[in-house]
Amino acid sequence: MVPSKAVDSNLNNSITSLPNELDPLRIPTHIAVIMDGNGRWAKSKGLPRTMGHTAGVDTLKETLRLCSDWGVKALTVYAFSTENWSRPAEEVNFLMTLFERVLKREIMSMKSQGVKITFFGDLERLPERLRELIAEATKETLSNKGINFNVCTNYGGRRELVLAARKLAEKSVKGDLDPSSIDERMFASELYTSEIGDPDLLIRTSGERRISNFLLWQLAYSEIYLTDVLWPDFDDHELIKALADYQSRLRRFGGLEPTQSQQL
Ligand code: IPE
Ligand code: IPE
Ligand code: MG
Repeated sequence: MVPSKAVDSNLNNSITSLPNELDPLRIPTHIAVIMDGNGRWAKSKGLPRTMGHTAGVDTLKETLRLCSDWGVKALTVYAFSTENWSRPAEEVNFLMTLFERVLKREIMSMKSQGVKITFFGDLERLPERLRELIAEATKETLSNKGINFNVCTNYGGRRELVLAARKLAEKSVKGDLDPSSIDERMFASELYTSEIGDPDLLIRTSGERRISNFLLWQLAYSEIYLTDVLWPDFDDHELIKALADYQSRLRRFGGLEPTQSQQL
């Protein structure tokens, strides 16, 4: 069923109500997305790869809006990996400029819509203008109470784990931490996701069946939804399919009985 638009007169804002086939009580708290297939989408239309990235931004905007409307508490998306630097400089430069343009354009609407944007990754290596916009967007939306929108930019799961290990080692050397007290909870508190917890659902588009160095620690018990649809074509119907599929799963976390998903 196509979601219907309902007008929220208080906010004078259009919100999309949850489709009937989805159970409001079983909406994933945290969704992670590997937004893949932009290049192939463009190629299939005889366009340059970069046009695929531009189209992918529209899909992301719509996905964020729907997740927010449907009660998802956190959306974490893979925008640029530590491995993506190996692409031709032209494409990398295009992506950095695209991130700048989109961020600049969207800061105020995210602020007014209650979105709290955060960036995961090694931001030092990003162009200065982009870093400034990231700092501004993070600051402007810091106290927002709506959806947590996490954009993984120059992010690598292995790098994140190494940085966490390094921080714990430094605390131990300083005498602030007894190494024998390091447990999973403490380790997780050094990760980018310390405040939001693990994804309940991982979506990967474009037919690939790998993790590509994404959230290696946090995906330990996520439900995985793979689709052949290319990211720019991942519309509301595709999101509904992914959520319906998620709702059909039994999450046992190693036990014998289904367990409630983790809450934020
Ligand atoms: C994903 O789409 C976006 C980024 C990695 C930045 P791709 O650019 O990987 O598209 P394909 O996989 O080549 O089609
Ligand atoms: C994963 O996609 C990274 C992002 C979506 C940003 P890639 O296209 O880089 O992954 P591989 O190279 O196919 O594994
Ligand atoms: Mg790809």
